[in-house]
Amino acid sequence: MNAPLIDPFARAITYLRVSVTDRCDFRCVYCMSENMQFLPKKELLTLEELDRMCSTFVDLGVKKLRITGGEPLVRRDIMTFFQSMSRHLESGALEELTLTTNGSQLARFAQPLYDAGVRRVNISLDTLDEEKFARVTRWGRLAQVLKGVDAAQAAGLKVKINAVALKDFNEDELITMTQWCASRDIALTWIEVMPMGDLGNEDRVGQYWSLKDLRHQLAQHYTLTELSERTGGPARYVRLEETGQKIGFITPLTHNFCESCNRVRLTCTGELYLCLGQEDMADLRAPLRNNPKDDAPLQEAIHKAIGLKPKGHDFDYSRQKADGQVTRHMSHTGG
Ligand code: GTP
Ligand code: 5AD
Ligand code: SF4
Repeated sequence: MNAPLIDPFARAITYLRVSVTDRCDFRCVYCMSENMQFLPKKELLTLEELDRMCSTFVDLGVKKLRITGGEPLVRRDIMTFFQSMSRHLESGALEELTLTTNGSQLARFAQPLYDAGVRRVNISLDTLDEEKFARVTRWGRLAQVLKGVDAAQAAGLKVKINAVALKDFNEDELITMTQWCASRDIALTWIEVMPMGDLGNEDRVGQYWSLKDLRHQLAQHYTLTELSERTGGPARYVRLEETGQKIGFITPLTHNFCESCNRVRLTCTGELYLCLGQEDMADLRAPLRNNPKDDAPLQEAIHKAIGLKPKGHDFDYSRQKADGQVTRHMSHTGG
């Protein structure tokens, strides 16, 4: 029996987020600079290596696996990876296999994802206005993502929309986005923009819209009831009494949720980051590659890495300028 993963603060690590590529077909203004440099493809773990890595985490008690990127669905042959991971759902070792996507490829992949055992998908969508969507993603087409949302629902996937709260950008869409999600039975989660990675000329302090403020605005239109239920992620939820829908808030800046952290992040090059907002990491590629037939050294390296997990992040806009407090981009660690 493999020992479960418990960090130095007695938190059980049962949620692994895996960035399968740092590439993306969009360049969201808060996420990447326009001329973002991506890793050479030869640096990436192969899909077989990713499979072995994830399976080892499952052996060590990981119950929830979220595939992220960059945009996970732009990685070639990614469906074979999902199909292979579904064996852990079938065996009961894994409780959830899911992904966070920008939705651009979902029209094609929604059904195969469902067939591989995925039941829920989080789609990033910051605006419902075509022109604003093109602006925030730098060239994305809203219609393509909306087709993806439709395809996901048609395939039977439960959809959650993640919207980054952006000052002077989607403040005016708070109610329209709420109504749009209510009419489609979609949960909506708002995220505070985090200072990660250099953006070139963009300034995140100017982008930041606190969820305290957003929530206050929402409360002027709806009656909010706090819900105790969680999905294993960092969001806290309220129900809007008038519509019955769920709204989530991910508030790393205004309400730190690190004490209940249950997750770690694997990058597409095999580094394990212990916290989204800290630099602590361990290389798992070497123990994986150097021991092709024996998982024990990799398991040992994972246990050792979990021992490095810090108490939490310390994102803070009051002492930062335009650059990222954490130098790597969200697309490297997968959000
Ligand atoms: P659910 O399973 O639906 O609860 O999803 P989730 O919130 O775990 O995953 P999702 O990919 O939808 O997360 C949305 C965003 O929340 C991420 O892209 C990050 O921006 C942020 N986020 C997720 N986990 C953490 C975390 O541990 N710390 C911080 N600061 N932000 C996080
Ligand atoms: N702060 C907050 N959210 C971010 N995302 C990307 N970069 C940032 C950032 N700096 C979000 C995307 C998506 C998820 C993968 O991460 O919008 O919802
Ligand atoms: Fe791509 Fe998501 Fe980053 Fe936008 S936020 S550039 S969709 S990885």
